[in-house]
Amino acid sequence: MSRRASILATGSHVPARILSNEDLEKIVDTSDEWIVSRTGIKTRHISGPGEYTSVLASRAAANTLAAAGLAATEIDILIVATVSAEMTMPSCACLVQKELGAIKAFAFDINAACSGFIYGLSVAEKYILANPQLKVMVIGAETLSTRVNWQDRNTCVLFGDAAGAVLLGSSDQGDGIVAEKLFSDGTLYNLLYMDGAQSLNPALRNEEFEGSLIKMVGRDVFKYAVNAMENAVRAVLAQAGVAIDEVRLVVPHQANIRIINKLTQKLGVDPEKVYINVTKYGNTSAATIPLALDEANREGRLQSGDYVILCAFGGGFTWGATLIKWQ
Ligand code: UT7
Repeated sequence: MSRRASILATGSHVPARILSNEDLEKIVDTSDEWIVSRTGIKTRHISGPGEYTSVLASRAAANTLAAAGLAATEIDILIVATVSAEMTMPSCACLVQKELGAIKAFAFDINAACSGFIYGLSVAEKYILANPQLKVMVIGAETLSTRVNWQDRNTCVLFGDAAGAVLLGSSDQGDGIVAEKLFSDGTLYNLLYMDGAQSLNPALRNEEFEGSLIKMVGRDVFKYAVNAMENAVRAVLAQAGVAIDEVRLVVPHQANIRIINKLTQKLGVDPEKVYINVTKYGNTSAATIPLALDEANREGRLQSGDYVILCAFGGGFTWGATLIKWQ
């Protein structure tokens, strides 16, 4: 049986504070009716003081270690996918390493926006295939509440804060990552971006500058997202020789219920097999897939030998899909 990088355990963490659509009605000119009908989102979790991205990430990782029955000192590589770390340097992953006491690990971040988690899985897989002894923690964590313009109703209603994680190791039982396909198109970067604290940013020298906030042309992003994820899923299934009917669960990036429904329809997959939790959490960028995967796992939606498809789309543009045989 071929050796694969397999998910040994999952975990997640969300901050306690919940922001409802009714709460948002008091902040910007919006309504529960608009938000639910256009996005499916009802609530999102928002970090409080001190609940930085690395803090959410550390808690998700600690829960994953507890589920795996492993100590932090047994992690060899620690990868955090994020676009909202509280510091530019050191990496969020190094802060998580410190918090967990994962002294053996080397740690680094990945920036692929909402696709960051599946990019992280891809990197982890390559290390594990090269050395089956390795244990790799891949975390998707964001506090996008610190990166939205709370005066911009086009974006502030969409995002939330969360972290999710998986621990990967080697398996020769047939389970693990079966196929994956990643894509990027930097020519479309200006449809979804966040100004960085870079020397190239003249706004930083402007006293009026209010921070590095998300900017998005939502309607265009919507169209690209559906087509890109559909093509990525089809490519991965074709690569593996697996039919969509053989897949037990599709865990798509949770940005908007209309994107997910459209994708479900285009793929011709039974809606019962598509995991949705955007209603509760909003779009948590790199955290959506590991958070959903952990919830699905804890709800008993995944049995040994099941095929699971992950698919993501985000700023960059970046997108892709991963086919996993559950352990
Ligand atoms: O994570 C990956 C990246 N992100 C995404 O995948 C998000 C992709 N895009 C979307 O999900 C959708 O495009 C949105 C939810 C962002 C917007 O939905 P839409 O159906 O594309 O609406 P729209 O942007 O075309 O706006 C329609 C109207 C506009 O008013 P006018 O110009 O028609 O008078 C907006 O000003 O809705 C207005 N609007 C709002 N109204 C009430 C925009 N935001 C709001 C709001 N409340 N929060």
